[in-house]
Amino acid sequence: MIDRLVDRSRSRPHTWSSRYDYICWSGLTDRSYNARLLPALPYPEQEALCTRRPPVAAVAALFARPPGTPQRMCAKSTALFPAFAQYLTDGFIRTRISNNDAETDRKRTTSNHEIDLSPLYGRTETQTAVLRAPPTAGKLGRLKSQIIDGEEWPPFLYDADGKVKAEFCDAAGVPLLDSPLGLSHLAPDAKPSIFAVGGDRVNAAPQVAMMNTLFLREHNRLAAMLQRRHADWDDERVFQIARNIVIVMFIKIVVEDYINHINTSDFELRADPAVAWHANWNRPNWMTVEFSLLYRWHSLVPQQVVWGGLACDGKTMLLDNRRLLAAGLADVFVNVAGNGAAAIGLRNSADFLFGAEQHAVEQARINNVAT
Ligand code: HEM
Repeated sequence: MIDRLVDRSRSRPHTWSSRYDYICWSGLTDRSYNARLLPALPYPEQEALCTRRPPVAAVAALFARPPGTPQRMCAKSTALFPAFAQYLTDGFIRTRISNNDAETDRKRTTSNHEIDLSPLYGRTETQTAVLRAPPTAGKLGRLKSQIIDGEEWPPFLYDADGKVKAEFCDAAGVPLLDSPLGLSHLAPDAKPSIFAVGGDRVNAAPQVAMMNTLFLREHNRLAAMLQRRHADWDDERVFQIARNIVIVMFIKIVVEDYINHINTSDFELRADPAVAWHANWNRPNWMTVEFSLLYRWHSLVPQQVVWGGLACDGKTMLLDNRRLLAAGLADVFVNVAGNGAAAIGLRNSADFLFGAEQHAVEQARINNVAT
């Protein structure tokens, strides 16, 4: 069934990318740009359309909740669903957005185009190296972590002076991990709670840091187990094998729990790779500009949440891991799952996400995405 469905569409490699509007070698191979599913509109139609397009602000306004209207809630999902969706998409849909506007390039991406748990392991080998714990104290293959009140968490990114810790910088003091996005909104008292992690969006909200912490703990648990079973393995092998297992576990959860949750067909999907081994559609992934816009399911995010019995505005949770640290991981999962997701659709986004919605419309225009 999957074969027949996929064969209905054009196979990869994608014909176009966001680098050029026409087919050429760099467009076909430079994966620092997004691919395109649809051809960009050719001139002169493009120009004619540009003059007919409504202003960006008018389109973005379609996402905003009319004042005084309560958010429509989702009948099916708890807030665990958008939390997982956010953690998943942050791993492979990453427009080149920077805290420094001059470095933002909305045609380009920092994606590895894989479901590779880069928010946990980093997107480059250099980043992975600084996130790994040195094999001291006889512990092999582990990710760096710290124990607070008996619970394991990622290490903190900043030192007591508010600078990125030297262990996460190169010899010249340049940070090697991608800086958390949205730093201009980071409250000074929340700064010490920011984690050193592989992804620039993990610290965006505690429910995302929660997911990442779960997989960090799982990596270190598996590494300990592998070390016990394979006395002849060195630090490198324990790390690499634990990482491979955690990525496969993650993909199984993506397909068998998350996708099956939204799957409307009469059968359940299984993450069985055998179906792909001889399939003629099995080619390397390359994220597309259209997918990066369609997957912005921001209206799922509730405006109001209840944590530990206290109601609070979702905005107060952003870029601040203190509530996560205070509650402990298990209780945070209970809190997140105890809240409903909002309903996906127009005129329903939490107000603190309006800027992100507006940027999506701008990004579609910058990339000349076909209507
Ligand atoms: C507290 C919740 C969330 C916050 C604060 C948040 C924030 C943001 C921000 C600031 C951006 C970048 C906007 C821009 O400049 O273009 C963004 C992009 C995006 N968000 Fe969210 N988001 C949240 C939840 C979600 C959820 C639930 C999903 C579900 C799939 C999601 C998927 C995406 C995607 C796919 C992008 C585009 C990424 C890219 O191209 O770089 N987000 N989000």
